[in-house]
Amino acid sequence: MIHTFTDIGAKLAGPSGIQELMEDLGQALTSDPQMRMLGGGNPAAVPGMQALWRRRVQELVAEGAALDRALGNYDPPGGNPQFRELFADFLRRNCGWDVAPKNIVVMPGGQSAFFYLYTILAGNSAGKKRRVLFPITPEYIGYANQTLERDCFSAVRPRIDECEGNIFKYRIDFDRLCITDDVAAVCLSCPTNPTGNVISADELGALRRLCAHHGIPLILDQAYGMPFPGAIYVDWQPVWDQDMIVSISLSKLGLPGTRTSVIVAHERITIALANMNAVVALANGNLGQAILKPLLAGDELISLSQNVIRPFYEQKSRTAAAVLHDKLNGRADYGLHASEGAFFLWLWLKNLRITSADLYQRLKRRKVLVVPGHYFFFGLDEPWDHSQQCLRITYSQDDRIVREGLEIIADEVIGLTT
Ligand SMILES: Cc1ncc(COP(=O)(O)O)c(C=O)c1O
Repeated sequence: MIHTFTDIGAKLAGPSGIQELMEDLGQALTSDPQMRMLGGGNPAAVPGMQALWRRRVQELVAEGAALDRALGNYDPPGGNPQFRELFADFLRRNCGWDVAPKNIVVMPGGQSAFFYLYTILAGNSAGKKRRVLFPITPEYIGYANQTLERDCFSAVRPRIDECEGNIFKYRIDFDRLCITDDVAAVCLSCPTNPTGNVISADELGALRRLCAHHGIPLILDQAYGMPFPGAIYVDWQPVWDQDMIVSISLSKLGLPGTRTSVIVAHERITIALANMNAVVALANGNLGQAILKPLLAGDELISLSQNVIRPFYEQKSRTAAAVLHDKLNGRADYGLHASEGAFFLWLWLKNLRITSADLYQRLKRRKVLVVPGHYFFFGLDEPWDHSQQCLRITYSQDDRIVREGLEIIADEVIGLTT
């Protein structure tokens, strides 16, 4: 039999960076206990958080009726009405945002939410192609294949600020950032996956003004940020207004298995997303909402984010960076991106003599799984050497495994950089 796929089918069902990443991750998790998993975006097993989730599941079981409701009913496609009310209260109380339940829509995970958003905003509209602009590349690999039509993304190369101690930081290059009338939205993750970058308040302010001036939304992906899980190691003020679309996920709190996230936006967007969710998925999974619901009324989520999650990841980041500097300093021409949040180190191997894809394969043979950097540079309209010189290294796993992995990475790259 010949299976002929549509163009859209071939695009979505073909190989992609995110599919390769999830596949390798899944394979290694199930069949290769020797593999050092420095590649995926799984949150760490944080004991304080695991204890909370176990407690909540036990409470649900003990309550009986709440569990029956969660398991036995479809919610409306935009999420459980009570959850949306509690979530709006939670944001008003903890972030000072002027939001109502109509601004909240529950989604089956941030990944799906972005697919819906890009489908709504990017592509052909009245005979014109509309694009999503990423103001600072590299950006999250998971966005890369998400639009139904081709060429719906453009990305802007950042400025690279090199600091002492082999540290560098990407900055938005406002001289290159040009919002033409085909730009439908500006989008960034912050803290950024893969770099751990947190843009400054000035950069964020300038982006908001630019978007407002052009009458387009600014999409801010807070998968690692505020109000939770708070894996952000520098000052950050959570902001939202009707011109922004903010994505918040339960995943990095330690609940990726519940596939639950929230979009906070103008009701024109939340209604559109809920309607689309009805078509694609009927409804969301209920368990994540049921687990979180009573916690939204108190301060526990915020205090755990500040006092458990943030210090946990920040410590892991510092430890991992110290290992790499110790092994590479004076032996390789490299930079580490300033680690300001999320779960990753972003290693730049200057003048790397092989591609980042080859380096990925070499490391995989040595039982270290990372993500080669080139996948994160989608949307650029011209080649950039830098995109072949970087690796994303996850530090959320056990310290011993991270250390072993980093030592192997250092061993492999010494001699490959100049
Ligand atoms: C920046 C960013 N956005 C969105 C997602 C999607 O997360 P989820 O679908 O689990 O909410 C991820 C997952 O790693 C991410 O890193």
